[in-house]
Amino acid sequence: MMLESEALWWQKGIIYQVYPRSFQDSNGDGVGDLNGIRQRLDYLKWLGVTAIWISPIYPSPMADFGYDISDYTGIHPLFGTMDDFDMLLKEVHQRGMKLILDLVPNHTSDQHPWFLESRSSKNNPKRDWYIWKEAKEDGAPPNNWLSVFGGSAWEWDEQTGQYYYHAFLKEQPDLNWRNPEVQEAMFNVMRYWLDKGVDGFRVDVMWHMIKDEQFRDNPVNPDYDPNTADYEQLLPVYSTDQPEVHDIVHKMRQVLDAYDERMMIGEIYLPIHKLVTYYGTDNNGAHLPFNFMLVSLPWEAKRIASAIAEYEGALPQYGWPNWVLGNHDQPRITSRVGLQQSKVAAMLLLTLRGAPTIYYGEELGMRDVPVPFDEVQDPQGLNMPDKNLSRDPERTPMQWDRSEYAGFSTVKPWLPVSSTSKRVNVEVQTSDPYSQLKLYKRLIELRQREPSLMVGDYVPVYSDHQAIAYIRQAPGATRFLIVLNLSHRPCYLKLQRLQIKGKVVLATATELEGMEITEMIQLGGDDGIIVVLAS
Ligand code: GLC
Repeated sequence: MMLESEALWWQKGIIYQVYPRSFQDSNGDGVGDLNGIRQRLDYLKWLGVTAIWISPIYPSPMADFGYDISDYTGIHPLFGTMDDFDMLLKEVHQRGMKLILDLVPNHTSDQHPWFLESRSSKNNPKRDWYIWKEAKEDGAPPNNWLSVFGGSAWEWDEQTGQYYYHAFLKEQPDLNWRNPEVQEAMFNVMRYWLDKGVDGFRVDVMWHMIKDEQFRDNPVNPDYDPNTADYEQLLPVYSTDQPEVHDIVHKMRQVLDAYDERMMIGEIYLPIHKLVTYYGTDNNGAHLPFNFMLVSLPWEAKRIASAIAEYEGALPQYGWPNWVLGNHDQPRITSRVGLQQSKVAAMLLLTLRGAPTIYYGEELGMRDVPVPFDEVQDPQGLNMPDKNLSRDPERTPMQWDRSEYAGFSTVKPWLPVSSTSKRVNVEVQTSDPYSQLKLYKRLIELRQREPSLMVGDYVPVYSDHQAIAYIRQAPGATRFLIVLNLSHRPCYLKLQRLQIKGKVVLATATELEGMEITEMIQLGGDDGIIVVLAS
């Protein structure tokens, strides 16, 4: 049981992910930047989120739009200067909010000085900072490992006659985390930003960081679906999630623990029983191993109810839960489940136990934007053109107002603005009491005001093939019943054993607010309600 007085900022808070290229352009080059984010801080404060995570802003050749870093302690000129960063951090803090940076320790850019040195000769002192291997006798790559972005994960280096390993693009060589010098170099990167006052890191592909020492072949995936990425042909049992990764995570945690209340999120796509091991064995791992259940599961009440139960049950006693509906790598929630259900999803996200993460634009119901064939930018989309895997559609400019480029920029932005932006934008939705934005704002307000919703226990009370219901309760605080209809048809719940009496305080359809609720509940399709329970 968690008491509000004991909860830390990241346990009580709400994280908002900003994709900096697409949030706000302040200098008219069509790409978002740090000063742009700073100009929009009052909006984020108004919305009520408490922490901002920004995707990478470091110098980068942008082969993977910033996830290929060539200098870990600088700022890409496209995003601004270090002064701009310092000012952003200061203004975030002035508003009582926190700033979380993206840390990409698994791989660097192939233009990073470390890699340039490493590839310069076999006996360069930094050779072992990356993963170099001999070819097989016939010249083939050392093993069958595949790149997440398509093709072999091994790139032949003509000059030194060896292969290097890259889990992602060949422009993103993997660091060798078994090398203590690499570890120390990255820990120093962390210290650099922590000394500046950054509040935490979202650690990119945490489960990739250590590979099998013997580099054994990955087994074939018997369930491979050819519509999915080529990478899925194999099960990455030797290239990811190795037991030794936990030592690394633990060491990163120690770096953080030398400071006050800093935190670490891990990006980890693994089944729940493996995911929870990243909390560490004694609260010595990641604070929040990202839980992508709501991103990956089919939108079915039964499946979701049992997944929540599984997750709640698997968490170690010191593990704080967290929830995600979308991010810069995944189709937007509104495009997956539709606008009506995205309201139910918002209510779920903001009433479950644990830290919610909101992806920019989710609060407007922004949808994936179709990008013309010849304008596709994402390497994942370009490398596997027939599989509809481009991540551009979920990375389009934030929709602020009705103007031509939606208030994002004064010039044509790097990715197209949604054709719906004249209707779907912050300006319009701020003055519409029934908008998605208002729903998000009210959900956030309620959650942050009520200890039961913010830190209380999760008590499942009902689920069937259409609906789920649960109670949130903290000692001595007002209790809430949440009922969500995940289907489009009316649903009927009989909660006789619970002796429910209460009143709807917030609903996806505001007409339901104020309604008295008893044990027999009927809800319209796509309805979700939060009921304040009589004590
Ligand atoms: C993570 C990032 C993704 C990036 C990949 C390689 O999954 O979220 O955007 O392409 O890592 O760094």
